[in-house]
Amino acid sequence: MLHGKTALVTGGSSGIGLSSAALLRDQGARVAIMGSSGAKLERAKAELGADVLTICGDVSSIDDLMLMRAELERTFGTIDILFANAGVAAGTPIGSTDEASYSRIMDVNVKGVFFTVQAVLPLMREGGSIILNTSWLNQVGAPGRAILSASKAAVRSFARTLSAELLDRKIRVNAVSPGSIETPIHRGSGQSEQDFRAYSQRMGAQVPLGRMGKPEEIAAAVLFLASDASSYMLGAEIVVDGGRAEL
Ligand SMILES: NC(=O)c1ccc[n+]([C@@H]2O[C@H](COP(=O)([O-])OP(=O)(O)OC[C@H]3O[C@@H](n4cnc5c(N)ncnc54)[C@H](OP(=O)(O)O)[C@@H]3O)[C@@H](O)[C@H]2O)c1
Repeated sequence: MLHGKTALVTGGSSGIGLSSAALLRDQGARVAIMGSSGAKLERAKAELGADVLTICGDVSSIDDLMLMRAELERTFGTIDILFANAGVAAGTPIGSTDEASYSRIMDVNVKGVFFTVQAVLPLMREGGSIILNTSWLNQVGAPGRAILSASKAAVRSFARTLSAELLDRKIRVNAVSPGSIETPIHRGSGQSEQDFRAYSQRMGAQVPLGRMGKPEEIAAAVLFLASDASSYMLGAEIVVDGGRAEL
């Protein structure tokens, strides 16, 4: 489905990004993944295969994004698919959240997405597809999640505005909106497997479908948006959340 295409997945070293990178590669794309931890990138490369390009850098750093673009240009020349997926999550209750916590979430989730798109655009071919990773939180009022939810609402908005801005280049921008997905983002440091299972069951019980989602279930939507199968979609959002925000 994606033979002859090139793809960049930011945050491709873990969770939803890793699963999406694997699916895009399985469908024939040449894939690059970006993340800030070199060790995680190495582990992902061992899983994905030696032909996957790894780029170590922080999406909230413009300098790192410029290095990322140079690496992509050197290795791939052009890009057809961008999955701007790198993101962080944290609770931010209104009464106890400091400026540093605010800035970390906004810098990675909002500034990082905006400038990742800006950095990749000069390499993107006509007919390219950009997929942004938002969240079910962009449409609900979840207590203690004000900054994360606002960051994802901004990303949802980018899909609309950037799609309109890139119309003349025939580049489509859409978003995928995951519900609660079983990935390392939910794991506390040093949390045992047993504790994570118990957490997953508690979270799953709040979902109409009765469980947390799997990264592969988001990757399937990413593949659809990356491919010409979604050629009539612009500025849209695919919600993959087991009914969490919709029912
Ligand atoms: N899991 C869910 O329930 C859920 C729900 C809705 C939306 N999402 C969104 O899905 C996306 C992926 O999350 P995930 O659940 O797959 O989490 P994850 O397993 O923790 O993966 C996050 C990825 O982003 C990378 N990353 C984080 N900060 C970065 C930075 N500053 N620069 C470059 N890369 C960075 C991480 O690599 P390094 O740590 O090495 O930087 C990692 O590869 C996020 O945007 C998240 O908000 C997740």
